[in-house]
Amino acid sequence: MALAHEQLALACAACHRCGLAAGRQRVVVSRGNPRARLLVIGEAPGAQEDAQGQPFVGRSGQLLDRLLAAAGIDVATEAYICNVVKCRPPGNRKPTAAELAACRPWLEQQIALVDPPLVLLVGATALQGVLGIRGGITGLRGQWRPWGERWLMPILHPSYLLRNPSERPGSPRALTLDDLRRVRERLTPLPAPL
Ligand code: URA
Repeated sequence: MALAHEQLALACAACHRCGLAAGRQRVVVSRGNPRARLLVIGEAPGAQEDAQGQPFVGRSGQLLDRLLAAAGIDVATEAYICNVVKCRPPGNRKPTAAELAACRPWLEQQIALVDPPLVLLVGATALQGVLGIRGGITGLRGQWRPWGERWLMPILHPSYLLRNPSERPGSPRALTLDDLRRVRERLTPLPAPL
């Protein structure tokens, strides 16, 4: 049975399943709408997220929000955003396989709670954490994949897009916007969240 949203946040806040608990300021669980049809899964909190207790609120998150908005997706009402790992790794290093595994039950609770038809995997670590696929994000981005009863799409991570600011046709940013427009198309016919 899935935990209710507030219970889940409280349970995560008390989590000590891995060593990241020792260095965190806040456990970063989610933002957005728990009833959304689109679940967005990123890597792990950075400094801003650790301080504010919300995922994707730093520079990467602001870019992600801008791209989602440019594709016509309203984060506050149409998306639920979380990460594969809920606590900040020191120095923003990639989470280890053991940390991904320790945090996985929380992600599974979130998936059960939101029960989204569409899932966006943001970056290579989300791809690894959810599907166990290492590498290959460039080739896999923008492709819908069936995942049980859901459809899932990997996209490039906004931190990569921050390092590649060109918006010319064919650039990583332009490709990501195309990907998100395809998410918009698939989101539109789905019943609106209550
Ligand atoms: N990068 C992520 O993958 N997630 C965040 O919450 C912030 C930056």
